[in-house]
Amino acid sequence: MTVTPRSEPYGKPVAGRAAYVIVHNTSEVVTPDAQGERILRFARGAVVFRDGRVVEVGNASDLLRRHGEARPINAYGHLVTPGLVDCHTHMIFAGQRAAELQRKLRGETYAAIAASGGGIRSTVAATDAERDDVLEKNLSSRLERWRASGCTTVEVKTGYGLTPRREVRLLELVRGATQRVPVRVQRTALLLHALPDEYRERRAAYLEEMMEHVLPEIRERSLADAVDVFCDSVAFKVEECRALLLKARALGFGIRLHADQTKRSGGAQLAAELGALSADHLESANEDDWRALAQSGTVGVLLPAAALTLGQKLPKAAKLRAAGARVAIATDFNPGTAPAQSLLECAALAARLCGFTAEETLLSVTWNPAKALGLEEHVGHLSPGAWGDAVVWECETFEELPYWLPAVRPDCVFMRGADLALPTVERRVWP
Ligand code: NIG
Ligand code: FE
Repeated sequence: MTVTPRSEPYGKPVAGRAAYVIVHNTSEVVTPDAQGERILRFARGAVVFRDGRVVEVGNASDLLRRHGEARPINAYGHLVTPGLVDCHTHMIFAGQRAAELQRKLRGETYAAIAASGGGIRSTVAATDAERDDVLEKNLSSRLERWRASGCTTVEVKTGYGLTPRREVRLLELVRGATQRVPVRVQRTALLLHALPDEYRERRAAYLEEMMEHVLPEIRERSLADAVDVFCDSVAFKVEECRALLLKARALGFGIRLHADQTKRSGGAQLAAELGALSADHLESANEDDWRALAQSGTVGVLLPAAALTLGQKLPKAAKLRAAGARVAIATDFNPGTAPAQSLLECAALAARLCGFTAEETLLSVTWNPAKALGLEEHVGHLSPGAWGDAVVWECETFEELPYWLPAVRPDCVFMRGADLALPTVERRVWP
């Protein structure tokens, strides 16, 4: 399904000549095509933006001649790509769980740490205790950090509220934060993450409350674009997830799943059955699962930071190619399994661990995650008509994107065709 983007969250487009620009003197412009099938490379190319959208990409001298009225912006011999898309983050939370990483590295399991009061519930308690304005400000700062590392579209999911009231609070805060920051944000309500203590003996009542009251309220108040669940033996069963996601789908939400993470438990198959936008994690998914995702057009999202933290393997590129599935890479930014603050760095790791080509890597952080968000018509590529969200990188070739560690940084980031200032000093976002 394609999600119609909401009206722009951060003011009106720039008008006049400022809205008509040509980015020239690049080393190359590299972008997926409009269908996300091929990577197009324009050596020393240029890109023209007008009124927030891409007009065309191509040969620089040709475009400079034909767009003589456009304001020229010099890329100083650097690489230009579409803005990156991070399609899976849990960015709204308080606190940090660095001590848990030490426990994991000493061999304790995710489940054991959770059972002893750590894990998701400890972040839920920290988040509940934090003031609204602090949560909102920290989320804005994080989004600025994502933009400064080249992400122009970011998914933000809740999930550290757990109870109906607290989940709705987090969704309200996400809405508040995203109105202040020039990043496209897709909002996801992660409604089945862990059973809150308040419902320990009332699992069925929790599900019913989520389905009968919370989902309709979120829809009514337009608090989220999509709904997510944690389908796993340590979280919620396939039947529970199916029931909630069917209701969400009927209400018009896009749906996505945390699937087959700690064990193979039917999440990817459920995602395929329901035509979910994405199935995320998939560390324990097998070839059949990947083929099912390919057939349903569901994007498989790899989360290398979480896999590394939990000592799990990522699938090999050859297996994914054989299945024919669309693959995205995301940060999964969260304080437990993925305190990862750079999408490109996650992609550079996944490229090495899975064996992705530079073309596959670029697709996995642009067009494919845009599809995972239902936004592939509008972002993730520099085709005529797409939003003018682009990055000039501090490097020359696109093979350098998965190469350098720490990852390549943007020289400048265009949002809707406008070169907006990046934060000069990155703000501290921890805790
Ligand atoms: O995507 N898998 C479930 N949720 C998160 C981790 C949450 C946490 O440990 O705080 C994830 O990895
Ligand atoms: Fe996650």
